[in-house]
Amino acid sequence: MARVAVVTGGTRGIGEAISVGLKEAGFTVAANYGGNDEAANKFKESTGISVYKWDVGSFAACKEGLEKVEADLGPVDVLINNAGITRDGMLHKMSEENWRSVITTNLDSAFNMCRNVIEGMRARGFGRIINISSINGQKGQMGQTNYSAAKAGIVGFTKSLAQENAFKGITVNAICPGYIATEMVKAVPEEVLKSKILPFIPAGRLGEPEEIARCVNFLASDDAGFITGSTISANGGQYMA
Ligand code: CAA
Repeated sequence: MARVAVVTGGTRGIGEAISVGLKEAGFTVAANYGGNDEAANKFKESTGISVYKWDVGSFAACKEGLEKVEADLGPVDVLINNAGITRDGMLHKMSEENWRSVITTNLDSAFNMCRNVIEGMRARGFGRIINISSINGQKGQMGQTNYSAAKAGIVGFTKSLAQENAFKGITVNAICPGYIATEMVKAVPEEVLKSKILPFIPAGRLGEPEEIARCVNFLASDDAGFITGSTISANGGQYMA
């Protein structure tokens, strides 16, 4: 039986590439999404991957959504916590709403999702959890106190959960993408991208979503069974942690 993988934010951007990569690697994939029905339907039509709409910032919604996935496809073996948002702005101009929404969607979501799959993984003695953090959780970034705090939190969360579950056959790892060519990065003011970001990427280019998807495929595979609590940096050399 094919293993079942859930990808949050799995219909657009890096998440879309991850969903497709896992499907190509033989997993049965459920792609969660939060709001963009049009993009999700287009994704479903072009890939044949099942889509499930719920808000990863809500514990109750994650519980209900995962129950539906498990009823449809079977127990979740692999979880990719990828869903994330940006609400960039200097702290001295940041609203409480823009702080809270990023922490809820990007950090609380890891608890909401993991808490609802971890008991099953422990009982079955197998699991792969891969949390998508960010270069900006490692190095900080002007305009991203909210995002960097959440993404740094993901790394600590990953290391703790890895220790709790290593002896149960469950690995928990983080990936820190650098600047990847997605809508999220295209939302950065062009002048800032050209003058303050691109010149500092030694590879001389943005990353491709598929380059992150290939890291996920490796960590999700049986070959990666001895790797847990680690952080893979995929950033073209922009930051070496
Ligand atoms: N490094 C150094 N200086 C920067 C900078 C940076 N990354 N970003 C902006 N600045 C500078 C600007 O050039 C400007 O300088 P001058 O006054 O000398 O011209 C000054 O900071 C203020 O910038 P703004 O006029 O743009 O001020 P603002 O308040 O309107 O916006 C900002 C500030 C929110 C930081 C905005 O510039 C911005 O959005 N920057 C990009 C932030 C960023 O990199 N976000 C990453 C999004 S992608 C992502 O998050 C995915 C991932 O995981 C990597």
